[in-house]
Amino acid sequence: MSGPATTLGILGGGQLARMLALAAHPLGLRTVVLEPKANCPASAMAEQITADYEDPAALDELAARCGVVTYEFENVPVPAVERLVATRPVHPPAEALRVSSDRRVEKETLNLLGIPTAPFRAVDDRAGLEAAVAELGLPALLKTRRLGYDGKGQWMIRDGADIDAVPARGGLILEGFVPFERELSVVAVRGADGSFATYPLAENTHRQGVLLASRAPATISAEHQALAEDYARKLAEHLQYVGVFAIELFDTGETLLANEMAPRVHNSGHWTIEGAETSQFENHVRAVAGLPLGSTAARGPTLMRNCLSTMPAPAEIAAIPGAHLHDYVKEARPGRKVGHVTLTAPDEATLEQRAALLARVL
Ligand SMILES: Nc1ncnc2c1ncn2[C@@H]1O[C@H](COP(=O)(O)OP(=O)(O)O)[C@@H](O)[C@H]1O
Ligand SMILES: [Mg+2]
Repeated sequence: MSGPATTLGILGGGQLARMLALAAHPLGLRTVVLEPKANCPASAMAEQITADYEDPAALDELAARCGVVTYEFENVPVPAVERLVATRPVHPPAEALRVSSDRRVEKETLNLLGIPTAPFRAVDDRAGLEAAVAELGLPALLKTRRLGYDGKGQWMIRDGADIDAVPARGGLILEGFVPFERELSVVAVRGADGSFATYPLAENTHRQGVLLASRAPATISAEHQALAEDYARKLAEHLQYVGVFAIELFDTGETLLANEMAPRVHNSGHWTIEGAETSQFENHVRAVAGLPLGSTAARGPTLMRNCLSTMPAPAEIAAIPGAHLHDYVKEARPGRKVGHVTLTAPDEATLEQRAALLARVL
């Protein structure tokens, strides 16, 4: 079978689109990606329209070839989504893009819903920066409101001297530094019929602002698991969201603060491919295609480790029991996410043993 009704369109053709296409395939869905870079990671699994995201003819072609359109990154130009929405359902809604692509709007929206975040102030110039520092105190983090990722577009301000070293212009926010105990994330999914589910929380570790590893299910109190679920449900309802999204959280010991939301499948949810009953990718496809959601229950303790810069030799990973290799077939580049390895095990002790073997290779 082919044709628009059985075809999923994706804006973006990176590894997230690649894994979405892999999940769509057994459901009988074809995938077409719109991506400006030729030979993108998704192109091995999907048909590719190679054009700019704002190219009207390319957008119209995508709409003509697909029954429903989704996206794999939050900086999709809103006019592109609006053009698609005129002829095809697009999930998640454009409002989720508007909220998540600007850190100020994002934190204001979270706070409005009663979801606590780090204290923050918008910064538009040097005077505003000094006023924000006076109000929030130091240390604090200055961030670009738009287009920051993997810790890029952020400056730590520890003392008065740092104020002279950071940019003081429009389009920034200052955030109070949160002395968190650890970082967690909740990946959630909402169906077209309003059904809702969350995965068990993941505990995340970063290296130089880039996610290095996720451990799931995180060891967490029932209260905090429920709190994270409550945050996710409130946000999903507010946005009338359809699809998978994630909220990054700071665990302060006492409570959970929301850091940011991603309106898409999330790196801290990659463990679900082998570690959960239904992967985040399959559940996203199910949600946007109007199918019932699958169980988000964990199958057992799972560790996901990103491969940054280079890939390990496949034979070395395959030799580790419970290890699953995911090569995005991307060019090696310092710090770049080029793949990941997921480790599964029947129990925590076995997972630790396997993690020690993996640590020797990665
Ligand atoms: N207010 C904060 N207090 C303490 N650490 C922070 C704060 N904001 C961000 N960080 C640290 O920086 C990392 C990246 O920041 P984040 O806001 O998630 O931006 P990005 O979009 O680059 O992921 C976070 O995962 C966390 O480790
Ligand atoms: Mg982040």
